[in-house]
Amino acid sequence: MDDLKMRVVSRRALTEHICEFTLRPVEDVTLPTFEPGAHVTIETPSGAMRRYSLINDGAAPTEYRIAIKREAESRGGSASMHDDAPDGTVLRVEAPENSFPLEEAKEYLLIAGGIGVTPIYAMAQHLKREDKPFNVVYCTRTRADTAFIDDMEAAFGDKLLVHHDDGDPDQAYDFWDHFEEPRDMRVYCCGPQPLIDEIKAVSGHWPEGRVNFEDFKPVDVVREDDTAFEVTLKKTGTTVTVPEDRSILEALRDAGVTTTSSCESGTCGTCKTRLISGDPDHRDMVLRDDEQEDHIMICVSRAKEGGLVLDL
Ligand code: FES
Repeated sequence: MDDLKMRVVSRRALTEHICEFTLRPVEDVTLPTFEPGAHVTIETPSGAMRRYSLINDGAAPTEYRIAIKREAESRGGSASMHDDAPDGTVLRVEAPENSFPLEEAKEYLLIAGGIGVTPIYAMAQHLKREDKPFNVVYCTRTRADTAFIDDMEAAFGDKLLVHHDDGDPDQAYDFWDHFEEPRDMRVYCCGPQPLIDEIKAVSGHWPEGRVNFEDFKPVDVVREDDTAFEVTLKKTGTTVTVPEDRSILEALRDAGVTTTSSCESGTCGTCKTRLISGDPDHRDMVLRDDEQEDHIMICVSRAKEGGLVLDL
């Protein structure tokens, strides 16, 4: 399927930092359907490719809805969507994919942390439509930071438990009661790393496959204090400058160098590249310690100092 051209037809502020975008196709086309947990990859106005979970019902969609948090240190995709994608903006959108599918189960526990609520909200709406038993635990800092809170309370009633920790790890929700006894239930969890680590810790004794994660992490790979550096490609002898606001992968793409990538957020492993020399700043979630010396994930990692030489 070719990429879609979609227009931002409306924006809704959900919290101070989270905005919902509704996208409709520019041309008269039937949008690809999708299942809960699916995401689209969007070319943001900055040129960065970013993945966002779809919130609406994907059975016969006429639009795609996503919610984007402006990451505090962002200079990349999320800032670009917040600042440079007003109503009317046309964006290139890749067809939906799903790496976090809902499987058949007797009952479900859905766990969301922060902006990780997007696929969880889509799943909960789907399970409600299907009249399946489910509960949602949704953890955020404060009520004001909680996207979709009114909609979710109205839709899910006492199936929804919202917990605020005020940013204090000591006040984090205690999940043990949900996990003490392994049950014939599927768990889906999307949120920041500490939440995922916590759920992995409390569910270690559960059978394989019952507890599923979408590793949400801020996908803004470029940070406020990043600087430009040079990357030399050993096989061609080409040198490409990576600007302070682009990833290596984006800079190579801009220079017409073909590379393979998928998540572009340091989690899937697709863009693993051999590092010949240089001082890398590893920012991925994939490389083992023993691989870090001579490999780099070019979608997120950078150079600490000086340039890098890659086996490309
Ligand atoms: S593209 Fe997935 S880790 Fe780089």
